[in-house]
Amino acid sequence: MSAHSSDNGDKTGVAQQGAQQSERPLPGGAARKWRAGVLGATGLVGQRLVKLLAAHPWFELAEVAASERSSGKSYREAVRWHLDGPVPEGARGLIVKSLDPSLDCDFVFSALDSSVAGGAEEDFARSGYPVVSNSKNHRMDPDVPLLIPEVNAAHLDAIPTQQKNRGYDTGFIVTNPNCSTAGLVLVLKPLADAFGLEKVFAVTLQAVSGAGYPGVASMDIHANVIPFISGEEEKMESEPQKLLGKWDGARFLDAGLGLSAHCNRVPVLEGHLECISVSLKKIACLKEVREALRHFEVDAELASLPSAIRNPVVVLDGEDRPQPRRDVQAGNGMAAVVGRVRECPLLDIKLTLLSHNLVRGAAGAALLNAELLAARGFLHRRVQAEDEKQLREPVTR
Ligand SMILES: NC(=O)c1ccc[n+]([C@@H]2O[C@H](COP(=O)([O-])OP(=O)(O)OC[C@H]3O[C@@H](n4cnc5c(N)ncnc54)[C@H](OP(=O)(O)O)[C@@H]3O)[C@@H](O)[C@H]2O)c1
Repeated sequence: MSAHSSDNGDKTGVAQQGAQQSERPLPGGAARKWRAGVLGATGLVGQRLVKLLAAHPWFELAEVAASERSSGKSYREAVRWHLDGPVPEGARGLIVKSLDPSLDCDFVFSALDSSVAGGAEEDFARSGYPVVSNSKNHRMDPDVPLLIPEVNAAHLDAIPTQQKNRGYDTGFIVTNPNCSTAGLVLVLKPLADAFGLEKVFAVTLQAVSGAGYPGVASMDIHANVIPFISGEEEKMESEPQKLLGKWDGARFLDAGLGLSAHCNRVPVLEGHLECISVSLKKIACLKEVREALRHFEVDAELASLPSAIRNPVVVLDGEDRPQPRRDVQAGNGMAAVVGRVRECPLLDIKLTLLSHNLVRGAAGAALLNAELLAARGFLHRRVQAEDEKQLREPVTR
């Protein structure tokens, strides 16, 4: 496949990957799509989820929920739509619900503001719903998987322990990382596998959409850079340890990396750029590093997921790439785009990476997590026994 050596990430075959989404059959001979709810459906991440679900081969949007400001209105009335194209037909007329855990759906995505996400996600999990969360609240909990399928799919083995610890029945919580951590760890994973990692030093240039809507005031960010994003450096320094670490059957063991991050907000709409320096355990030349990144390929299980791309790291050769405006859509927004791989006088190598904060760093990441949960049999239908009988009819593919 062509996940390399292009000066234009959005014109590579990678940008087209995932285009066959609608052709992916339902996993495990399932008879019909899973019905998804989106908590926080009116926010920036929620809107992305609503749009991605409108064309999804395995999931359909059944419920939307948000704050008291929105509940009771139709989705079309409640949402301030930020995406190109109209609000999807299937979502327009849905009535926005409150966060009461009685939605008519099989599982929920959470794109809630962190001020309410923690308790609401627990309420839904306790009421039997699998919760696929974007929010920070439960990411570092000792029994909650913090998941990037290409990096640590084995962490899903923690779900039964979580259910036992918390007295959940069919419900549980799975989270995806912070938006700047997502791209970083996707790039670190093939380097960790090939050479081992000792230290990582990262400086980010993060898009304004990472702050939600309305986010940073235009008077503050226009023609400016803000060298502070509350809590972001702490997340970038802790989440990779869990993601690159192991689940040992009882607890998550940290990767034991040396990590330092500086986070900056820049006047870019979408796409977080990161300049990183890395020291490796094993000596490697630049060619070997580039090859390890280019050849990072997902296994057959992941390749069968509708939102997955076969080579999630794209390496560009142009000396002035990646750039947010030109490269952020690579792999339908699911790729981490790398350029400027070179020697570092302080550590071993340095490079620049870019990832789409709202897709790979949020909605697309959650969708991929839900797809892996479906493929592994973690999603169950919350339907009446009579409906269940009808669903056992032979499956047509
Ligand atoms: N933006 C990113 O790049 C990004 C990346 C990764 C993770 N995240 C995380 O994802 C979550 C959503 O982010 P976002 O950027 O989409 O934020 P956002 O645009 O501010 O949206 C927040 C959502 O939460 C809802 N909400 C707020 N207060 C509520 C309350 N008291 N009760 C019920 N619902 C409430 C809002 O509903 P109303 O419209 O009704 O107020 C809205 O749907 C956050 O936890 C964020 O940290 C964001």
